[in-house]
Amino acid sequence: MCPGSFDPITNGHLDVIERASNLFDEIVVAVGINQSKNRLFEPDERVEMIQEATAHLGNVKVDVFRGLLVKFCVAHDISAIVKGLRAVSDFDYELQMGQMNRSLASVDTLFMPADPHYSFLSSSLVKEVATYGGDISGLVPEPVLRRLRERLGT
Ligand code: PNS
Repeated sequence: MCPGSFDPITNGHLDVIERASNLFDEIVVAVGINQSKNRLFEPDERVEMIQEATAHLGNVKVDVFRGLLVKFCVAHDISAIVKGLRAVSDFDYELQMGQMNRSLASVDTLFMPADPHYSFLSSSLVKEVATYGGDISGLVPEPVLRRLRERLGT
């Protein structure tokens, strides 16, 4: 499983999903729905953008989850979580989450180093740059670019 908020999916996420899809028979991209976070895109929009961006990958499906990630993993017989790491700062929090998830259920977390081309990339920064009219082509998949332009009128 490749979990995340994906608000929206970036080329950094897509790179990790593509590489994970080469390593595993099947990948579930799981969109976490956390009510407390301020989101630009609704869950079904985020799912649609991921489906369009991963349409070329035959072994990837997209789903949503609410609540604990490990509950979704257990319910769907998923034994491994794949997370991309952009920097050491990501590792601190991801290690803590990976260890917590391992203590809650028999679900291991595998860390994949981000492609250096994308190590500065985040959904939040993409939204900020797009909001102020910056060029984000090359940073997000085409379906995201289109929707961001529609949404922000840029
Ligand atoms: O893209 P993000 O925002 O870094 O994704 C974080 C996400 C959704 C994967 C993470 O917050 C998560 O797993 N949330 C589900 C709630 C949960 O299981 N919390 C305990 C983690 S130890």
